[in-house]
This record gives sequence, C-alpha cells and structure tokens, in this order.
Amino acid sequence: MGCAVIYVDEKQGRFHLQGRAYSYCLQLDEEGRLLNLHWGGRIPDADLSQLLSFYWEGASFDLRYGRLPLELPTPGAGYYGTGALSAVNPNGDSILCLQYKGYTLTAGKPTLPGLPASYVESPDEAQTLTLLLEDELLGLRVRLMYTVFANYDVLARSMAVENAGKAPLELTCMLSASVPLYGCDYDLLHLKGGWGRERAPQRVPLNQAISRVESRRGASGHEQNPFLAVLEKSATEFQGRVWGQTLVYSGSFLAEAAVNNFGHTRLSIGLHPDMCHWRLAPGESFQTPEALLVYSDQGLNGMSQAFHALIRQRVCRGYWRDRQRPVLINNWEGTYFDFTEEKLLAIAEKARDIGVELFVLDDGWFGKRNTDTCSLGDWVVNLDKLPGGIRGLSEKMHGLGLLFGLWFEPEMVSPDSDLYRAHPDWCLHAKDRVRTQARHQLILDLSRQDVQDYVIQAVASVLERDGVDYVKWDMNRNMTEPFSALLPAEGQLETQHRYMLGLYRVLETLTARFPKVLFESCSGGGGRFDCGLLYYMPQTWTSDDTDANERLQIQYGTSIVYPPAAMGAHVSAVPNHQTGRIASFQMRGNVALAGNFGFELDLTALPQQELDQAKEQVLAIKSLRDTLQKGVFTRLESPFEGNFAAWQFLSQDGEDLLFCAYQRLVQPNPLSHRIRLRGLEPEACYRTEDGQSYSGGRLMEVGLPIPLPKEDFSSYILRLHRT
Ligand code: GLA
Repeated sequence: MGCAVIYVDEKQGRFHLQGRAYSYCLQLDEEGRLLNLHWGGRIPDADLSQLLSFYWEGASFDLRYGRLPLELPTPGAGYYGTGALSAVNPNGDSILCLQYKGYTLTAGKPTLPGLPASYVESPDEAQTLTLLLEDELLGLRVRLMYTVFANYDVLARSMAVENAGKAPLELTCMLSASVPLYGCDYDLLHLKGGWGRERAPQRVPLNQAISRVESRRGASGHEQNPFLAVLEKSATEFQGRVWGQTLVYSGSFLAEAAVNNFGHTRLSIGLHPDMCHWRLAPGESFQTPEALLVYSDQGLNGMSQAFHALIRQRVCRGYWRDRQRPVLINNWEGTYFDFTEEKLLAIAEKARDIGVELFVLDDGWFGKRNTDTCSLGDWVVNLDKLPGGIRGLSEKMHGLGLLFGLWFEPEMVSPDSDLYRAHPDWCLHAKDRVRTQARHQLILDLSRQDVQDYVIQAVASVLERDGVDYVKWDMNRNMTEPFSALLPAEGQLETQHRYMLGLYRVLETLTARFPKVLFESCSGGGGRFDCGLLYYMPQTWTSDDTDANERLQIQYGTSIVYPPAAMGAHVSAVPNHQTGRIASFQMRGNVALAGNFGFELDLTALPQQELDQAKEQVLAIKSLRDTLQKGVFTRLESPFEGNFAAWQFLSQDGEDLLFCAYQRLVQPNPLSHRIRLRGLEPEACYRTEDGQSYSGGRLMEVGLPIPLPKEDFSSYILRLHRT
C-alpha cells in the first residue's frame, strides 16, 4: 500500500483514512455517532477529538446533534439539512438513530453488486474500511464503505442499507457521500450546459444556502454533470485547496453544497431523492452508487489529474483501456441518413488512404430509417441501402484494412416500429397517460428483465453475425414518464433506478460477451458523460457540437473531471453544421487531437490539399497517441476567460511533451502573449522537432511566446522531447 493506509483505533473510536495526499478522519462520539473531523491535506495525527467540544460551544437555539460534523446525517434529533439516509418506517415516521456497531478492514476493494464502480487489479492496490451502523429499533443496518488507493489520490465511498428488521421500510434518500467541511469561505464549481454546449465550468460564491446541481431526467444529462467541487476563494488552476466529488452513475442525481448557520459546509452527492424511493423488505439490501472524492491543494488541475488517473485506469476497463484507440471516420455529418453502400465505400477508401483505422456507420442502416421518425427497435439491416447486409459491408471494410463500427440506439423504440407494434407495453409509460415523444421516440423499459433480454439479444445477434469491431451506443432523449407497467403503484418511484440497473446489466452482458469490441457511448453528444458509462465504454462522444472554437470550451470543461482519453473528438466540415463557422483544417485537427481523434465529414468532397493535411494529422496523432491517451493533461489557459486556450500533455515518463495553444479571434495591434508550461524538470533540456532547445525552467518560468497570425481560430502545436 505504500504510503496510503487506513489506521483504526477502535478503542478510541478513530478511523484515519490516509491517502497519499489527503486525510479523512472519522471519530465516534460518546453516543456512538460517527463524525468527520477532517477531510483535507494529509496529517500524521490520529487524535482530533479536541475539536469536538468546539462544535457546540456557546449558547444556541440549536441542538447539539444538528451542530455536529456528522458523517451520515439522518433526519430528526435536530439535524435539518438533507439527510444522507432517510427511510419511512411502518409507523409512518422517518426517524433514524444510527449507532456504530463495528468495522472490517480488508485489502483490496469489493465490487458493488449490479453497479459500476472503481476497482483494483490486485488486493495490494487498496484498503477498504467498512463501518457498520445500526438503528436497533428498526433493525436497519448501514454499511459505509471507504476505499483508499495506494496509487490514486481518490477516496471511493458508498453505502449499503440492509433491512434486518421485521417490517418493510421505504428508503426515501440514500446518498453516496455527505461530508462536512470546516468553514464556508469557498466558491462552488460545477459543470453546466445544454445540448451542444456541455460541461462549461461555473464558479460562484457559496453563501448560507443550499446550492444544488441535479438531474431528474433519468440520465446524468447535458445540463449539469454529476460533479461538484468547492474551492478556496484564492484557488486557481494551479494552487489552492479544492474538494471535488463525482458519482459513478448515469441516471438522475443530486449534488449539494449546503452552508449551515454555523458557517460550515456540507458536500453531498448521490441518487436524486425525489426520483428514487425504494421498498426494502425484511432481509433485503440496497446498494448506493459509488462517490469518488478528491482533495487537492494543487488547485483545479491537481483535482482533475487525480480524477483522470483513476477514471482512466480504475474506472474504465477492458481490452481497450490501455490500447491505442483507433483513428476513426464516422459518416454522420458526412451523409446523415442519405447514404448507399457505394458512397460509404468511397469515403472509406479515402479514409484508408490517409491512415484512418476504423470506419463507423452511424444512424440509418436498419428498418426503414431514412429519417429519425421510425424504426428504433428494429435492428434489422435495410437491404435497399446495404444490399450485402451489415456483414457484406463489414467484410468490404475489413478488406480495405479498416475496422468496422456500427451505431445503435438500443434503449429506444420508435412508435413506428415492428417492436412497438408487437410490445406496446415495453416502453416507460404511465397508465392511461400520454406517452410523450421526443425525437419521435419512446424509451424502452429497461427496468424489465424481458426488455433487457430483448436488447441484449438484438445487439448481440448483429455483433455475433456481422463482424463489428466498434459500437456507438447512443441514447437520444430523456425520461418523461419514468414508470413501469410491471411495478405496483407503491414501487413506481423505483423505475428510474431499476432502469439504470437494467442498463448496467445489459452493458455488463454485452461487454463481457464481446470483450474486444470497442464501445463508445453517446447521448445527443455528451448528455450522459459520466463515470458510470465509462466503466463499460471507455470513451464518450463529447458533444454534437463539432465546431473547433466551441470544442475548445467543451473539451476544456469536460477535462475538469474526465481524461482526454475518454472524449471523442472529430474533425468536421466547414461551414460547421452547428454554428456555420469556418475554421481552418489545421485548427480543426489541432483541437480534435486532444481527444480520441476522428473525422466526421465526407472525405470524398475534400480538396487534395486538405486530404494531404488530414494524412499528416493522422500520422502525427499515431506517433503521439501514447502521450495523448496516457500522459498527464494540464490545462494552461482557459477559453472561458480570454482569447486563448492552451493545454499540455506530458508523457508518463516525462520525456514527451505536447503543447497546444489556440487563438480564437484576431485582434488588431495585439499584445504579445506567452504561456508558461508546467510540471517539467527545471534543469532538463527539451528539444523541439526542428532542433530548438529550451530548459524546463525557461519553459515554466518565461513561457513560450505564441504566434499571433492574422487569422481567426488559429492554433500552435509544439512537440518537445526531453533530451
Ligand atoms: C445523436 C448523436 C449523433 C448521431 C445522431 C444520429 O444526435 O449524438 O452523433 O449519432 O444521434 O441520429
């Protein structure tokens, strides 16, 4: 375990979770209540009990319980905030009184039943502390699970709730983490957005109020990502204290930063309590999703790098996790629904000639789908468009030396489909109510096992038969009537979470059955960019907005939590289809290289000069791929704050450095502009490809001057090698 370790002193009621860079200190009080006395920088001390008396000093209208830094706040007894756990018992009240009963400390990390979660590959990579709390009157047992990783500066936390009593309970709130922080002189940071403009960082001051970000949509959503951080007011990208949390989950969520009347902050995250209630019969258990918590005193980049490392290596899984991701061409913006096999092959040939490795056939290959009004659910090839079937096309692609990928939207059904005509009750709906359509489609009820099995079989039969190497797994609407025909009235509020569990079962089954298929998730672009899906599919289509200038912001914001290796990024045509903007081919390529690189345009329509540029881009990407996928990514200058954006990738061994700077608009009589690099060895020498040498110190202290061409949307990429 190296220097990360969990210390337990049960006699004194102390649990000190000591990561490489953080300490998380739990303490029992004399009534057996679990308190959190410190989450922040790593400290050697185990005993912080002296702090306890300060929480209820002086006269107050408030009760002691509500003032304590509770690790698992529950309603009643004077706590008035959002409870981390609440349950309605057969008496109709929701009082919980949880007391410590014991602990277990194990090497490694157990999996969470039915849920995605961070993981280890061997027991010496982590230690897991499980604390058992119980409400004896109800027989409700709670297991809080904490994992400290030896090699990652992330704390994983989740909760399991067991009904060991005699009567059924209804869980009404079960958060994954709810952590008290000392003080409130902080800013809050979250990622806001909408379709086509996902994950823009928004930083606002905290005040004595509850700040919430959430989704009730049955998907993590374009609007707010399952992430929330608080920062010291003076914290920047590079310095200052930051506490961040994200959720390994893809459905409705709630994240809160609440400041109480004593000037302390509580950070919490978990299932949205309005969207998930759960009946818990005697003997049953409920497992929450996992929260990932990061503390950094190295500013926002420090927090992001901790998330990136864990997400890339211990949330993402499978064959493709560490393999170089193929450069792809996707036909969506190139042809939309209007394609023939001949057209696809013509694009593929050009793609092969410039070094592309994977051809992805997007929407429109099945049923009678020539528009988005029909056929979802009927995953049978349209032979009018593709006379040789998918098999015939994939063989031809393979013959060209390309991998072959296919688009599915398996969670959906079009009312105009054979599937819907055969099974009208298979969609999410409420009895006797309108079934609201979005993009002319309804959502299949994946809370049902028969529907899950259909989806598995429908996708598996194509993958088995047709030689498919890649799947784009799309999901293009949110839930409007999240109810199920199979659940009783009192169970309807379980539907959304049961849907997610069903989706995870489908994905677990398919990814296990097709381990070498590369899955990429998508939801109207980046409407479901979260750690839950990254566990099954190691890359996500970042946004339907492919405009290079917009992508600077979208990719910059996404990187607050997610590593570049998780982001799909494509060069598309100009004028851009979303904005009408024109950026040079070079700029488009230089923005897309900071993600899983691909093209999404009709290559047969490109002039030779641009094809040559595309070929050069692909060559460069291939030689840089390890650094781009596995290197340490650092944001240097924010496109949200000025006319420039910049970032760098530093290979794991520190030898290869890629510096990327972008100027958005030309300014007359511009000020000269230099950007300082980060994380280099001051004395080492870094050489550019044309033989120029710089010391690490100079690059970090003096910075690199940025050329300022008279061209809107220009880019400057420099590759350096430590000599
Ligand atoms: C969504 C995706 C796009 C494309 C279309 C196809 O909008 O985000 O990339 O696949 O669906 O209908």
